Amino acid sequence: MNVRQLLDDRLGEAFEQVTKECAPALVSPASRPEYGDYQANGAMAVAKRLKTNPRKLAEDVVGASDLTGIVAETEIAGPGFINLTLSQEFLKGTLARADLVTKVPRRESIVIDYSSPNLAKTLHVGHLRSTIIGDATARTLEILGHNVWRQNHIGDWGTPFGMLVTYLDEQGQSSDDLGNLDHFYALASERFEKDPTFAKAARKFVVDLQSGKEGAITRWKQFIELSTSHMQRIYEQLNISLNPDHTRGESAYNNDLAQVVTDLDEAGLLSLSDGAKCVFLKEFTGKEGKPLPMLVQKSDGGYLYHTTDLAALRYRHKVLNADRILYFTDGRQNLHFRMLFAVAHASEFVPKSTKLEHHPFGKLLDSNGRPFRSRDGSTIPLDHLVEEAFERARAIVQSKNSNLGDREFDEVVRAIAIGAIKYADLSKNRLHDYTFDWDSMLAFEGNTAPYLQYAFARIQSLFSRGNLSSKSYRADIVPENENERNLAIQLCRFQETLELVGREGMPHHLCAYLYELTSRFMRFYETCPVLDAPEKDRKSRLALCARTAKTLETGLNCLGIAVVTRM
Ligand code: ARG
Repeated sequence: MNVRQLLDDRLGEAFEQVTKECAPALVSPASRPEYGDYQANGAMAVAKRLKTNPRKLAEDVVGASDLTGIVAETEIAGPGFINLTLSQEFLKGTLARADLVTKVPRRESIVIDYSSPNLAKTLHVGHLRSTIIGDATARTLEILGHNVWRQNHIGDWGTPFGMLVTYLDEQGQSSDDLGNLDHFYALASERFEKDPTFAKAARKFVVDLQSGKEGAITRWKQFIELSTSHMQRIYEQLNISLNPDHTRGESAYNNDLAQVVTDLDEAGLLSLSDGAKCVFLKEFTGKEGKPLPMLVQKSDGGYLYHTTDLAALRYRHKVLNADRILYFTDGRQNLHFRMLFAVAHASEFVPKSTKLEHHPFGKLLDSNGRPFRSRDGSTIPLDHLVEEAFERARAIVQSKNSNLGDREFDEVVRAIAIGAIKYADLSKNRLHDYTFDWDSMLAFEGNTAPYLQYAFARIQSLFSRGNLSSKSYRADIVPENENERNLAIQLCRFQETLELVGREGMPHHLCAYLYELTSRFMRFYETCPVLDAPEKDRKSRLALCARTAKTLETGLNCLGIAVVTRM
């Protein structure tokens, strides 16, 4: 249940009753315990507009509100804050519900465009953020009950493929070389530059490919298959939920591009500029107020990134029936997406009711604040990064000496390695640049994946010591002391946190939530005996532990991170 929303609705109704207009209650979790559990800030803004006394307005709103069964205490504080403390009964009832997550009442069809690497190059750390953040958002929206369409809009078309396929032909179909595409690309371009016969063959290949010659198409497909299988291996290693069914690359839209240009023309949006076809919209201007074109067809007839994206948008609207379309790319593509969305709406390719959202993210930096690269300045392939994570996690688990069997040892290493890489990225506000640092991401203290995973494992060991199972344990949660209550409240905030992540495409809210949950759990666990507590307390406390474990597991699952029962 979304408690925050419930309070917001109830108070919202009261605001409306008192002021005779729709006024937001603005409920949020209280920032300090002395402000109650939740706090509503709406009275100040409304009172200012209506020129009345905010404290008096807040009092009237509380008087008019129906909070029975939910709130035990309300307090008007400061200039007109409404502090709300949930009732014991309500807490108990909410935590007694078997479902941790309630499906949203309005199921939307949501397209998420993420990962989307260019196949001419190795999947490198530049694509890591899109892959990890997009995947967590997709999983979260899915758990909330939405109909999610993952779209891996890979770059699988264009002139570089002429060179690459020609080189692959020359070398024989060795997929090992393709494991490092950047190296492969470098070798191919060297051949292209130095050998005119090679260059001629590569150019001819591009012409054949673009005119749809069967032989060329087959060879290109082989190349794409080899490199997508490499990509898929990395997804599997990283526990990314993308599979080949989600791949719909640029080439999938080749046959629609001419129509896109024709339709733009028909919509009266097309202009010619130096022989190239483009769209000018008045809201986009460059230096000195000069109108900025969005190029859709070059003078030689070639189409562009924008054109393909317009075709993809139409597909997502028409075929996938999207209510929302989310794109996860780095911030540098901001202008591209602003123009794309504006043109899609102006041309009515996509109705205004379809929400188009670009969710950008900052750069990945090393500890010196420089772009994250290997020592020789080249980009670091993702599989090298994953290997290093495994190595480091292995050393850590070994040092803990926790007598795990081989299989369990490997499972724990994997959970920690992958969890650390993902969580370190996910826990930061994606809009900021993010500094990659092995030591801090693998720490067992602080806002890290191992800290959360460790808490989960501790709860599991508690249950196994009591010969119980945390999965099936049921009892009423009746929080008596402060530490129990703090934990119980935090457990009640899970749903609202997931909904926030889904709305904003910002998984760091969920990380902050899970971190706070774990910290509250640790405080509770250090101060309240569980297995040795008197019968009544024992049951309620075990139920609190079980609920915490389930929430941690579900939350980490939304982030694509595994839990383990022992560490
Ligand atoms: N392939 C692009 C890149 O690597 C990202 C594609 C993002 N999605 C899109 N529909 N434009 O920069």
